[in-house]
Amino acid sequence: MEHIKEILNIAVWAPSGDNSQPWRFEVRNEKLYIFNIPDRDNPILNFKQSGSYVAHGGLIENISIASPHFGYSANVSLFPDAQNKDLVASVSFENTDKKDHPLFNYIKQRVTNRKPYKNEVLTQEQKDILFESDNVFFREDKAEKKIIASAASTMERIALETPAIHKLFFRGILWNKKDNDAGQGGLYIKTLELPPPIRVAFKFLKHWAITNIFNKIGFSKLASKGNAGVYAKSSALYVVVMDSDTGKDFINAGRISQRIWLNATKLGLSVQPVTGILFLARRVIAGDTGVFLNSHIPLIKNAYEKIKATFGIGSGTIAMMFRVGYANKPTARSYRLSPHINIEDK
Ligand SMILES: Cc1cc2nc3c(=O)[nH]c(=O)nc-3n(C[C@H](O)[C@H](O)[C@H](O)COP(=O)(O)O)c2cc1C
Repeated sequence: MEHIKEILNIAVWAPSGDNSQPWRFEVRNEKLYIFNIPDRDNPILNFKQSGSYVAHGGLIENISIASPHFGYSANVSLFPDAQNKDLVASVSFENTDKKDHPLFNYIKQRVTNRKPYKNEVLTQEQKDILFESDNVFFREDKAEKKIIASAASTMERIALETPAIHKLFFRGILWNKKDNDAGQGGLYIKTLELPPPIRVAFKFLKHWAITNIFNKIGFSKLASKGNAGVYAKSSALYVVVMDSDTGKDFINAGRISQRIWLNATKLGLSVQPVTGILFLARRVIAGDTGVFLNSHIPLIKNAYEKIKATFGIGSGTIAMMFRVGYANKPTARSYRLSPHINIEDK
């Protein structure tokens, strides 16, 4: 039992949308059961739990990587109970020799870095390590990065112009260090790496009426353009593409994403997911457009098509998109709640 606690204490350092940490755990007869908490992440972005399943993928990858450190190997079964879609996985542990996985030390070091990246290219060796999976497509050509960055940053415009998304975004911000240090879900303001004038304006922008007035003089478009410039200056942009869009696909996409991120950390590179537009597109493609302004729907479709075309993706689901590059250390990092484990050992 002790080893499960120790493994989970490390595994929960996985990334999750807005640091929502959408998991809880049960242990029965030395077997670990991982549950999704469906209302933890942003209900607009987390369409059909796709974001939370990606987060669970990162968690499960961490469990596999961390287990040998404690002398175990993890045997994972996804969605073991067809009747219970919140039961994401069951994990049984087998004894093995104690041995550190080469990525073990990077689980707690991995971080989302939202700073501007330096305009430097990756070496062939770095690319071979990072992008080895058949599910991963990357682009490093300047013109292509610009197109993808501009499409991705459509998200910022839509988020600032849509009352419901604006509300959820600002509600999810942690404004003080104490809440962040306690490991609470939400985005700590300092991790957003806002440029100084925006940092000052941010306290006011949380009020929809103020953002709405600012938007009338072009604020949302300016914010989007600013971020497009930041995203385009990464060494590469990459996507994780799955054949389909089932829960298992998103979990496996999360596992692949986590492995790349840990390898990038080992290589001294910085990573930021840039996913908002993908999640909005998922909703639009499914015809669930109630939350959006009519004028935004073609913007979302168009941005998604541009991303697909520029990465050269025919069929399949783009589960995640990231930028990677060289950057200074982030100003701050987020923390985690202790894993909530319900023990029913006989
Ligand atoms: C499914 C998913 C989507 C995410 N989307 C974004 C995003 O669009 N932009 C961003 O800056 N961070 C994004 N993140 C990163 C999370 O905000 C981050 O992992 C979380 O706040 C914890 O911080 P950490 O990664 O530094 O530990 C995403 C993470 C996941 C798992």
